[in-house]
Amino acid sequence: MALSSLFDFDVNPNSYAVMGNPISHSKSPLIHTAFAKQTNQRLSYSAIQVDAGGFVQAVGNFRASGGKGINITVPFKQEAWALVDERSERATQAGAVNTISFTDDGRCSGDNTDGIGLVRDLMENHSIQLSDARILLLGAGGAVRGVLGPLLEQRPTEIVIANRTEEKAVALAAEFNRRDLLRGCGFQSIGDGKFDLIINGTAASLQGELPPIPVSAVSDKTCCYDMMYGKKPTIFMRWACEQGAAKVIDGLGMLVEQAAESFYIWRKVRPNTTVVITHLQRL
Ligand code: ATR
Repeated sequence: MALSSLFDFDVNPNSYAVMGNPISHSKSPLIHTAFAKQTNQRLSYSAIQVDAGGFVQAVGNFRASGGKGINITVPFKQEAWALVDERSERATQAGAVNTISFTDDGRCSGDNTDGIGLVRDLMENHSIQLSDARILLLGAGGAVRGVLGPLLEQRPTEIVIANRTEEKAVALAAEFNRRDLLRGCGFQSIGDGKFDLIINGTAASLQGELPPIPVSAVSDKTCCYDMMYGKKPTIFMRWACEQGAAKVIDGLGMLVEQAAESFYIWRKVRPNTTVVITHLQRL
């Protein structure tokens, strides 16, 4: 046996976790373990299911046991935002935290990597140009709020936020205060122009429902992106294919890219995401 193996048990690896509810389906342990292996980082990463009302305690326990960082998923991202001592600008803007770091000098910092994860997946993995693009964002919940800032940073021509509950879309657009290129509306007021990119950030796919998107929004140059992913294409993706969209993409790449950004925040190393996305697609 190699000498290093003999001493393995003595080394306390840096420990990380994802917290949410439900959590058993989470791919984050698999993704982070793959990143760690690839970059020779010595760490452990577990999935922790947290009951409603138990989030603050769970974070405290993990930190007390020497934990270095936590990814936060549904439904605790807003609670995580409230809990941290300090927030990055993108976390402040998103109103949600998906990455907590416990620093050596005792601080608890919050970041949000969802938006940059989406932007990187679109631009780097799928070569989609966001500058000068007309973008239709479906939904006005936490998922859309989390990606709005990073999308705006890419200087699109226009972003239309369309939501079932119109007031929420209007309020979200007003909050970002970019009247020059951001408009909130109900589905019936999307208009009949074509979009370069349509992003589904609603929870409708989970219920097997399709938001009432006007057929005129899609052309053979449109890219349609569902922030959801699953073994099979979502109803939104199937609809987009039927409309003849140029590209139809699910949210698996976003999942891996947001994880890579968290990994970078914690370990200061950028993993190769392509191999991990390919691996997950084959599972
Ligand atoms: P998340 O954090 O995942 O965004 P959320 O904050 O509950 O979750 O928001 C869910 C989004 O999906 C909302 O925009 C919601 O529309 P409403 O604001 O009108 O509730 C949207 N949504 C959920 N089910 C939908 C459906 N069947 N059709 C269209 N939109 C739906």
